[in-house]
Amino acid sequence: MEIVRKISQARSLAKQWKNSGLSVGFVPTMGYLHQGHLSLVERSAAENDKTIVSIFVNPTQFGPTEDLETYPRDLRADLALCEDAKADLVFCPGADDMYRPGSCTFVEVSGSLTAGLCGASRPDLFRGVATVVTKLFSIALPTRAYFGQKDAQQLAVIKRMVEDLDMDIEIVSCPTVREDDGLAKSSRNSYLTPEQRVAARVVSRAVFEGERLIAAGERDPVKVTASMRKIVEAEPLARIDYIEVVSAQTMEKPEKIDGSILGALAVFVGDTRLIDNFILHV
Ligand code: PAJ
Repeated sequence: MEIVRKISQARSLAKQWKNSGLSVGFVPTMGYLHQGHLSLVERSAAENDKTIVSIFVNPTQFGPTEDLETYPRDLRADLALCEDAKADLVFCPGADDMYRPGSCTFVEVSGSLTAGLCGASRPDLFRGVATVVTKLFSIALPTRAYFGQKDAQQLAVIKRMVEDLDMDIEIVSCPTVREDDGLAKSSRNSYLTPEQRVAARVVSRAVFEGERLIAAGERDPVKVTASMRKIVEAEPLARIDYIEVVSAQTMEKPEKIDGSILGALAVFVGDTRLIDNFILHV
């Protein structure tokens, strides 16, 4: 497995592979890897000749009061995990390499896809994500790129961006990997104290309840979110940021549940913001 820090080195290897007719799978990450990330790397390795993983804590997607400085990092462990998951190249640039002085170009996906849910609470998030993912795509030259459904709004934004900008890249959506008690795996779970970790179970319990209600025939989004809300509100350590049921395509709120539906929530447990969701086709 190759490990490179410089954009020119990563692009030159990617070019070499593309020019030899090899397919390249790409998994962008912010590191502190867990089985959720690794499921993407393993899938990419199974579906492509070569797999590139990027590890970069992207400053432009963090707001001024968010956890950029404290975001967990462990490059040595990440590299060992990437090797085990059969990555061929890990690209881990520094922030100065990715955003050089004078850099002033951003990619913005506008409208209903980014206005609500995480876009409402974290206004810098999707502009930063779309910009860095565009840059990473232009370095890694992927045939396919792998994203987790855990970040369902991010996935929808990337799919839209690739379509709108005519990027010749297949976006592959991968299921959410969970802990045994249901909590979606996340690098940010490491912030939780043991007591908060137990309290965090309400997040996935709310997801499963929303999913169960719709599968059982409930079609009123207000009733579904109210039941999910009740579960989270019963936990004193949890504070709701949002709980919503929206169209999985447009992220707009429907009158009635129909078609592809995304039920999504963000909950603070202490200072840690956790997100989770379900997607159903009814
Ligand atoms: P990060 O949070 O490190 O996640 C990298 C990828 O792993 C994303 O596609 C995310 O959806 C996926 N992922 C995280 N937890 C998962 C889980 N429990 N199950 C399945 N997939 C999971 O998302 C980002 O980084 C950044 O925004 C990035 C796209 C790298 C741009 O900076």
